[in-house]
Amino acid sequence: MKFFVDTAKVEDIKKANDMGVICGVTTNPSLIAKEGRDFVEVIKEITSIVDGAISGEVKATTTDAEGMIAEGREIAKIHPNMVVKIPMTVEGLKAVKVLNAEGVKTNVTLVFSANQALLAARAGAAYVSPFLGRLDDISTRGVDLIREIAEIFEVAGDIDTQIIAASVRNPIHVTDCALAGAHIATVPYSVIEQMTKHPLTDQGIEKFQADYKAVFGE
Ligand code: E4P
Repeated sequence: MKFFVDTAKVEDIKKANDMGVICGVTTNPSLIAKEGRDFVEVIKEITSIVDGAISGEVKATTTDAEGMIAEGREIAKIHPNMVVKIPMTVEGLKAVKVLNAEGVKTNVTLVFSANQALLAARAGAAYVSPFLGRLDDISTRGVDLIREIAEIFEVAGDIDTQIIAASVRNPIHVTDCALAGAHIATVPYSVIEQMTKHPLTDQGIEKFQADYKAVFGE
């Protein structure tokens, strides 16, 4: 399983990129709004930091296929690595079909069922984003959805669509997604940092330092 970082905060994107662990970035309208800056300006900055797939979503207020197609074309023009994020609706699928035929990669977002993922794949989505954490929030096991989608895509045998486990909230989600067959997990920077931690690593470092200093000094 590969990692994307799930944020529009450039400082966090730089930190994750410097660690060498990410190969893409996902944003959404809420994450862009949090930055309080122009969409294109933020996205351009992100493309200058990470050399990999960058998901930029169509405007949250655009709900018709024609509007999403027009915006998708503009987003794709920003940089060759751009992936257009489209919500999982009938209009969204129509937009995915057209954009895919034009060679524009799409990421179908707000996926909460295996059928939605299968439809998105058949419409031509390069990526589908099942939202793990939001399912857990309503007492439904998000990881079961990831596993179902992975199995269905495997059984189909002719699907290249990559599964991005989204709405990842903690390190256990990450391990679960990897075991369930997600191709990618898009993870907030705070969770990537949590993943680096283990109390025995900290204790080990302290002991090595103490033993070294006792003989060789600072
Ligand atoms: C994914 O592409 C979304 O941006 C994100 O993972 C949503 O996460 P949340 O449910 O924590 O808002």
